[in-house]
Amino acid sequence: MSGTAGAGKEAAERPILRVLDGEALSPPPAWMMRQAGRYLPEYRAVRAEAGSFLDLCYNPDFATEVTLQPIRRFGFEASILFSDILVVPHALGQDVRFVEGEGPRLDPMAGRTEFDALIEAGDPRIMRHLAPVFETVGRLRAELPSETTLLGFCGAPWTVASYMIGGRGTPDLAPARALAARDPALLDALIDRLVAVSTEYLVRQFEAGADAVQIFESHAGSLPDVPAGEAGDALSRWSFRPIARIVSGIRARVPGARIIVFARGSGLDGHARVADETGADAVGVDWAVDLKALRARLPARVVTQGNLHPETLIAGGAALDAAVDAILEATAGTPHIFNLGHGITPQTPIPHVERMLARLRR
Ligand code: CP3
Repeated sequence: MSGTAGAGKEAAERPILRVLDGEALSPPPAWMMRQAGRYLPEYRAVRAEAGSFLDLCYNPDFATEVTLQPIRRFGFEASILFSDILVVPHALGQDVRFVEGEGPRLDPMAGRTEFDALIEAGDPRIMRHLAPVFETVGRLRAELPSETTLLGFCGAPWTVASYMIGGRGTPDLAPARALAARDPALLDALIDRLVAVSTEYLVRQFEAGADAVQIFESHAGSLPDVPAGEAGDALSRWSFRPIARIVSGIRARVPGARIIVFARGSGLDGHARVADETGADAVGVDWAVDLKALRARLPARVVTQGNLHPETLIAGGAALDAAVDAILEATAGTPHIFNLGHGITPQTPIPHVERMLARLRR
C-alpha cells in the first residue's frame, strides 16, 4: 500500500511503517501498550505535578513529556500519544473523572434523556475541546526521533459506549448489554455518533502529524453475549461494522492511512476476522490468542501486533526469554510488530522491560 499519511522519505524509513506496509523485519520493531504509565518513576513525578489524570491528558507540555519518556528510556520504535479513550465522551459533554485507584467514572447514560443531552456530531465545540490533543500530536512529531513512528488512537465505538452507558468499567458490561437488548435503536444512535466523532478525531490526529492510528476495542470480549437482532452476529453489528465505517471514513480523507485494530477478547475467530471486516492493515493480538494459529489463518499482507502476556513481563527471567522467543518463532518471516497482549501494569519491574528488549534485539 502507498501510504501518504505522514509521508516523505523519513516516514517511509520508519520501521513500524515499513511493517505496516507489509515488510517482515527481523527483529520486529516494538512498542508497548500503556508504555507511558505508572511503572515509570518519571511518569509518576509528572502525574503528581499535573493534578488530575485529565489535566495531564489536556496539557500539551505534560502530555508530550510523558509520551517521550519511554522513548528516551527504551528506544521503542513507536510512540503512542498520551491521552485516554474517554476524552471523546468528555468532549461530547458527558461528565468524566478518574478516581484514584478505582479508574474512570462517568455520569451513566441510562436512556434517551441523557443521550439527547450529548453534543451533536459536527458541532465545533467537540474538536475545540480536543484541540490540546492535536497540539500534543504536533509537538510530538517535531520532538520525536525521525525513526520513531507516532501513533494516534481512539477507543472503538462499542468500548467507548460501554463506559458511557455503564458509567465505569463494568466487568461483564451488563449495562451496555442490557441497553442492546432493551433499546437497540438507541445504542445504534450512540454508536453512529461515536463513529462520526471518532472519524473526525482520528483524521485531525493524522493532520496534526500522527503516522498511523490504533483503534482500541478493549471490550470486544463481551460481544458474543450481546443480542444482535436480525443484523448478523454481535461482533459484526456492534464492533467490526462501526470500526469499518471509521476506517473508510478516514481513508476517504487521508489516503493510505495506516490503521491497527485491537479487538481484545474476541478469540482466535474474532482476531482472524478483524482485518477482513474492518479494513485494518494490522491486527492487535491479545495474549489469549495463539499467534501461530492466527497467522495460519491470515493472508500474508495482514500485519500482526502483540502479544506477550503482561504477567510474563512481570515474572521476568527465563520464562520471559522463552515467551519472547516463542513470539519471534511464530511470526518469523511475516510482518509483525512486537507488543504486549494488553497494557503494561504498574507493578512491572523496569529491568524486565530492558530484558525483553535485549532478548528481542539480540
Ligand atoms: O501509553 C499509552 O498506551 C497511551 C495512553 C493510553 C492511556 N489509556 C493512558 C492511561 C491509552 C492508549 C489508553 C487507552 C484506554 N483507556 C483504554 C484502551 C486500552 C486498554 O487498556 O484496554 C481504556 C479501556 C481506557 C480507559 C481507562 N483509562 C481505564 C479503564 C483506566 C483505569 C485503569 C488504570 O490503569 O488505572 C484509565 C486510566 C489510564 N489511562 C491510566 C493511563 C496511564 C492510568 C491513570 C493514572 O496514571 O492515574
